[in-house]
Amino acid sequence: KEHIFLLLRPAIPLLVLLPLVASTTSNDSFSFLYHGFSGVNLTLDGNAMVTPDGLLELTNDTINLGHAFYPTPLSLSGSPNGTVRSFSLSFAFAILSVHDGISADGMAFFVAPTKNLSNTWAQYMGLLNSGNNGNASNHMFAVELDTTQNEEFQDMDNNHVGIDINSLNSLQAYRTGYYDDGSGSFNNLTLISGKAMQVWADYDGESTQINVFLAPLGFAKPVRPLLSSPYNLSTVLREPSYIGFAATTGAISTIHCVLGWSFAMNGPAPAIDTSKLPKLPRLGPEPRSKVLEITLPIATATFVLVVGTVIILFLRKRFRYRELREDWEVDFGPHRFSFKDLFHATEGFKEKNLLGVGGFGKVYKGTLPKSKLKIAVKRVSHESRQGMKEFIAEVVSIGRLRHRNLVPLLGYCRRKGELLLVYDYMSNGSLNQYLYSEDGKPSLNWEERLHIIKGVAFGLFYLHEKWEKVVIHRDVKPSNVLLDSEMNARLGDFGLSRALAQRIAHGYRGSETAGSLRR
Ligand SMILES: Nc1ncnc2c1ncn2[C@@H]1O[C@H](COP(=O)(O)OP(=O)(O)O)[C@@H](O)[C@H]1O
Ligand SMILES: *[C@@H]1O[C@H](CO)[C@@H](O)[C@H](O)[C@H]1NC(C)=O
Ligand SMILES: *[C@@H]1O[C@H](CO)[C@@H](O)[C@H](O)[C@H]1NC(C)=O
Ligand SMILES: *[C@@H]1O[C@H](CO)[C@@H](O)[C@H](O)[C@H]1NC(C)=O
Ligand SMILES: *[C@@H]1O[C@H](CO)[C@@H](O)[C@H](O)[C@H]1NC(C)=O
Ligand SMILES: *[C@@H]1O[C@H](CO)[C@@H](O)[C@H](O)[C@H]1NC(C)=O
Ligand SMILES: *[C@@H]1O[C@H](CO)[C@@H](O)[C@H](O)[C@H]1NC(C)=O
Ligand SMILES: *[C@@H]1O[C@H](CO)[C@@H](O)[C@H](O)[C@H]1NC(C)=O
Ligand SMILES: *[C@@H]1O[C@H](CO)[C@@H](O)[C@H](O)[C@H]1NC(C)=O
Ligand SMILES: [Mg+2]
Repeated sequence: KEHIFLLLRPAIPLLVLLPLVASTTSNDSFSFLYHGFSGVNLTLDGNAMVTPDGLLELTNDTINLGHAFYPTPLSLSGSPNGTVRSFSLSFAFAILSVHDGISADGMAFFVAPTKNLSNTWAQYMGLLNSGNNGNASNHMFAVELDTTQNEEFQDMDNNHVGIDINSLNSLQAYRTGYYDDGSGSFNNLTLISGKAMQVWADYDGESTQINVFLAPLGFAKPVRPLLSSPYNLSTVLREPSYIGFAATTGAISTIHCVLGWSFAMNGPAPAIDTSKLPKLPRLGPEPRSKVLEITLPIATATFVLVVGTVIILFLRKRFRYRELREDWEVDFGPHRFSFKDLFHATEGFKEKNLLGVGGFGKVYKGTLPKSKLKIAVKRVSHESRQGMKEFIAEVVSIGRLRHRNLVPLLGYCRRKGELLLVYDYMSNGSLNQYLYSEDGKPSLNWEERLHIIKGVAFGLFYLHEKWEKVVIHRDVKPSNVLLDSEMNARLGDFGLSRALAQRIAHGYRGSETAGSLRR
């Protein structure tokens, strides 16, 4: 789909009439470009295969061999006895070895007169054998990527690129690398690094010059070739010839693969777009880049930190708003407040919302988030859970008491070691603040005092006589006489003192005041 695939074939009736005439690609401007090989018509042999991702794997195991051919032969001369015209090719490849630093044998791009390379040997990179190595009747040209040092071929090392003419004894070879365009310095590369690289090979038919370039994948074609040798390929190559790749492995499991390939007669090979190439397989220990070595621990640490913070925040939230809730409390549902609501109402029990400190704990001013109702929250610490059910039942029962001289008890909330009682907020504070005028509240005149005393009396009367049960206040004192917005006296803490004194582990510090009533 991606390739420019310009095949000149005989017309179909001609094929029917002359079925023995092999179709030859002889178009002057023939070219192709493959990014991966999915759906590409290649002739494969040996262990060569195209993976579902489109990667051409020539070998993928120990002791194996593979070839991949462009399916039709190419006319290199254009006419039967003409000279070989200019051609240009490029391919992206990678050699992945299971073991770090060792691999066998290598891979090559080749031009050969036949598709039948079955009689080749692994040591000869799947190109030749001991019987025909160096024989001019091979009519073969190859660019080898050699990862094994064979003494019989006078290999320079186990990591070189070579130009081969009819022989594995290279015409010219150089260690793998490239010349930097800017500085001109030579940069080493390792064929078996597992990293993808790109090869460019150009043959100029007029000057009979062969140039081979190599660079890491993603780099532009270097200006200075790695190998450059004059050789008249018209004296070597047959008309027509096949082009393709060969690779072999020895005892070490190695994947020789081609990611992309382009070729052109009489012009530069189409540029390979590296972003369109298939991904390389992961093999053995991942080749780690320096960047990864630095960023991975940082990324891991950051990840752990973030996850940890999130968990801590989550747990803190869970813990911060955690409540005690038991089955029996279902009955008291409407009287139960969530701690979260009370927490937000009092802005997290801030000191500035503190209304006062009593015998059992602190009282905070607040505003319920939803109803905007002003409340006073009394935080009472308690340790024992014994009798809690009865106590809450009492709270709820008292909460049903409604009289204009009583402070309405709205509900409660329970946490571990803590009980919260929620009252209507009394905007004018408690009577003690006026009588002892600590914080400069105006003292009361006799009319107001009488009104307050009457209010207290009405409240007590209601508690004693008008409710279905007799409620004994037991803690009538100025701080329990609260004043609403109209300066009506309202009794607070009624009925709870006994219960609290009995059940709150912190103890009851307030004494039974003179005003306490008993029956
Ligand atoms: N519903 C309320 N509205 C306004 N202020 C209140 C309310 N309930 C209590 N207070 C204030 O909180 C203070 C402490 O109350 P409390 O814990 O009942 O202790 P005590 O009654 O022993 O002084 C009271 O003196 C009063 O000023
Ligand atoms: C080569 O093929 C291309 C595309 O099919 C065509 O445009 C061109 O004319 C052909 N050239 C020759 C010399 O046949
Ligand atoms: C090697 O080939 C086998 C099948 O022969 C395949 O399952 C495996 O995925 C290949 N390995 C890689 C890395 O592509
Ligand atoms: C591949 O190309 C060969 C040679 O041209 C041809 O015989 C074969 O039918 C092609 N196969 C497909 C699947 O196109
Ligand atoms: C090509 O060369 C061969 C021998 O080298 C010769 O027999 C043949 O006639 C030549 N063909 C043409 C078209 O020149
Ligand atoms: C390939 O060549 C060998 C000899 O080199 C021969 O035995 C074999 O039959 C040939 N195979 C094909 C498919 O032509
Ligand atoms: C080269 O190969 C040809 C054909 O296979 C054979 O006849 C010839 O003897 C070989 N030459 C040498 C030097 O081995
Ligand atoms: C490149 O490789 C050659 C041969 O292996 C070695 O002598 C040279 O020191 C290497 N250069 C660098 C920069 O590593
Ligand atoms: C290359 O070889 C062919 C065939 O031997 C010959 O016709 C041609 O002149 C040679 N080219 C050069 C530049 O020597
Ligand atoms: Mg009180």
